[in-house]
Amino acid sequence: MQFKNSKQQYGWVSIVMHWLMAIIVFGMFGLGLYMVDLTYMDDWYKKAPDLHIGVGMLLLGALLIRLCWRIVNEVPVILGSKVEQKAGLWVHRLHYVLMFLLMLSGYLIITAHGRGIDFFGWFEVPAIFPAEKGREAVAGDIHRYLAWAFMGFVALHAAAAFKHHFINKDRTLTRMLGIKPDHKGEKDE
Ligand code: HEM
Ligand code: HEM
Repeated sequence: MQFKNSKQQYGWVSIVMHWLMAIIVFGMFGLGLYMVDLTYMDDWYKKAPDLHIGVGMLLLGALLIRLCWRIVNEVPVILGSKVEQKAGLWVHRLHYVLMFLLMLSGYLIITAHGRGIDFFGWFEVPAIFPAEKGREAVAGDIHRYLAWAFMGFVALHAAAAFKHHFINKDRTLTRMLGIKPDHKGEKDE
């Protein structure tokens, strides 16, 4: 399989980054919902937020690498009608924007008291904004709304991928799985 994208096919770097990030994002959503209901008595009371925050920071790094890779690569042409192509492009762009805002709001929660973020005990990610009273609660609310909005768009996105596969019968899903065209009834337009 090719390393880079072409106008027709995703390369393996994009494919691996897509599915890895998708799995991690679902995990982060579940972990987020789970951890806010924990009480002081639970074993995971401290471990769960530490994991959520540490993985969140890693995800931010992965997002920046993925964006750079997208910029230096061709983006395969979105298949379907003109409307589907436009909608697809904007939903993909929105995924990047929402992911970034989620990470930013998470960062603003943790650094609300002016302290940096401890990254798995290895080093500290500095707090670049000064401490601010009440920011933790506001950023927390924003983070929660963003997380749900993001999951809504992801559901729409996954539904669109299945619609392309089962109804349009085009290569949208198979090319994101790295499957080569078999030219038996799969459409490229
Ligand atoms: C079951 C879940 C998912 C399925 C079935 C799925 C499927 C796909 C498919 C088939 C494409 C290729 C679209 C095309 O070629 O026009 C794609 C692209 C994309 N997906 Fe997903 N996806 C899923 C989850 C996610 C998640 C959780 C995220 C966010 C982290 C995500 C972000 C993206 C982005 C940003 C693109 C555009 C890639 C680019 O051009 O940079 N997807 N997805
Ligand atoms: C894709 C990335 C992320 C997803 C999907 C996500 C999802 C969530 C969800 C669903 C919650 C529970 C919200 C609630 O019900 O109140 C949550 C809480 C939280 N997240 Fe994230 N999160 C992400 C990234 C981050 C990052 C990068 C940080 C920190 C740097 C972070 C810090 C927090 C904190 C501190 C809470 C607790 C908020 C509170 O108690 O009000 N998250 N997250």
